[in-house]
Amino acid sequence: MLYPQHNPYRQVHQLATYWQIQFDPDGQGLDAGWTKGLPQGRPVAVPASWNDQFENSRDFLGPAWYQVQFDRPWGWDRQAIYLRFGSVNYLADVWLNGVHLGSHEGGHLPFEFLVSEQVEQAGNLLIVRVDGDLASDRVPPGNITGGEIDFFAHHDGIYPQTQFDFFPYCGLHRPVVLYASTPGGIRDITVKTEIDGSTGIVDIRVEHGLSDAEIHYALNGQSLPIVDGSRLIVENASFWSPESPSLYDLTVDLTRDGEVLDRYTLPVGIRTIHVEGSTLLLNNEAIHLKGFGRHEDFPIVGRGLPPAAVIRDFEIMKGLGANSFRTTHYPYSEEMMFLADRLGFLVIDETPAVGLFFRESGLERRTTLVQQYTRELIARDKNHPSVIMWCLANEPHSLRPAAKPIFQELYTLAKSLDDSRPVSIVSFTGVPEDSFDFLDVVCVNRYHGWYFEQGRIADGVDAMEQGIEAVYKRYQKPVVLTEFGADALAGWHADPPEMFSEEYQAEMIKGYIERLADKPYVAGTHVWCLCDFKTSQSTGRAASLNTKGVFTRDRKPKLAAHTLRALWKGGGEQ
Ligand code: GCU
Repeated sequence: MLYPQHNPYRQVHQLATYWQIQFDPDGQGLDAGWTKGLPQGRPVAVPASWNDQFENSRDFLGPAWYQVQFDRPWGWDRQAIYLRFGSVNYLADVWLNGVHLGSHEGGHLPFEFLVSEQVEQAGNLLIVRVDGDLASDRVPPGNITGGEIDFFAHHDGIYPQTQFDFFPYCGLHRPVVLYASTPGGIRDITVKTEIDGSTGIVDIRVEHGLSDAEIHYALNGQSLPIVDGSRLIVENASFWSPESPSLYDLTVDLTRDGEVLDRYTLPVGIRTIHVEGSTLLLNNEAIHLKGFGRHEDFPIVGRGLPPAAVIRDFEIMKGLGANSFRTTHYPYSEEMMFLADRLGFLVIDETPAVGLFFRESGLERRTTLVQQYTRELIARDKNHPSVIMWCLANEPHSLRPAAKPIFQELYTLAKSLDDSRPVSIVSFTGVPEDSFDFLDVVCVNRYHGWYFEQGRIADGVDAMEQGIEAVYKRYQKPVVLTEFGADALAGWHADPPEMFSEEYQAEMIKGYIERLADKPYVAGTHVWCLCDFKTSQSTGRAASLNTKGVFTRDRKPKLAAHTLRALWKGGGEQ
């Protein structure tokens, strides 16, 4: 699915920043005819979660109704017009001028409707009903009773009762746009790259609806012939890597009798990623991922998209010498993915499948949703050079027999959609995690010295090492330690280090990284996590925050940030 683009042949119109919203706690909106206009809307900012914008909305998970009006942009009367949502969490129903366009389930992934027929010249009324409630047959799941879950239901009784460790923010979280293009124009482009010596090979597949049209290709403005029907050959290519994130502008023109009918320009990074034995190779060289798990989590906007905060997060990661992150625990914004390409980050791209469990109740529906998310994620992010691995789920409660065939099928689906990247899941169980028999990379989370061996860093590091060695011995594949860390209350100090002090967090992270440094099969270490973030309320989360961030929620460094800079950048380099 292409990101909307503005050029001489396409136009994008971002809908208002301030919409109207009305909460519908009694679920009366549909019967009361709110699809034709809200009786008592009030201003709300978009893109942003609604939870932290009002006094009475923090714990309200919907349904809420959004409303905005717009006129058809001038000159769009003969264009194909699409209405596109970057992310709505969790379930969206959309009406335009009283006509139900459809619905979409699952946050953090875009969806769109062709609305050329419905859009009037003036006074169009767009209504979106958003249901963010938690349910055991949704993904991610919530409101699970203890009996249903295989593992410790450590989420029992927290509020809201998520089966995952972050606040279930709701709303129109990313931009909502109208865009116009030539009817039957370019609908999708798929790019795969290879390297051969100093030559780059760019395989391109274009989908469009103009049977009599020709396609012309240019790279950085230079027209190039297509070879074998689908490939561009780039001599002396600049390959993409974190150290040198070289991008080429690939321009695809759809023409008829020499007239350009449609155009799309895509940033392309020429690189390869593959597994060889127990090594992860980028451009045929072993790589080591140094980075973080994170959250799209910011004060006030919640899961929204504040561009300045996005830039800040890349800046602080670069400042520590990080070269990688995992999109925990849901696909991040498209805007963030384009920045990862440009700034040179190696991204493990994760679906919203966190907290999966394999009890029979709701299992079929949850499985169908995870398959939908896998399709949508790969369709959205397949052309990003920064994406080096697909992660199909985080910490599924997967020690039940039903889990392995479900992940086998999901793995096969992912490979059928994209055979150019490794595929994995992230597990927190010990050995065996059966699915690693067929997954390409072993990704594990470990909290020895925190949830286990509490208060004893040395014992925790020893236990972690034993676990990592055991998992490598069993699977003989690259191992990425996708999460490790400790909570630290900013400003809390203890010597000798004590749990929740900045020293304890820094010492534990340092101990893990140094212990793993000489293990060539460890392809990466991701600290959990970059910044403190909001969670549900529980006795285990003071101030409803997970404070394992090496930065506070407002991006102020703790001692561990300085420790990581010394480890990853060496010495006092700034
Ligand atoms: C898990 C999980 C995270 C969670 C973390 C923690 O590994 O993947 O989402 O925040 O542990 O407990 O801090």
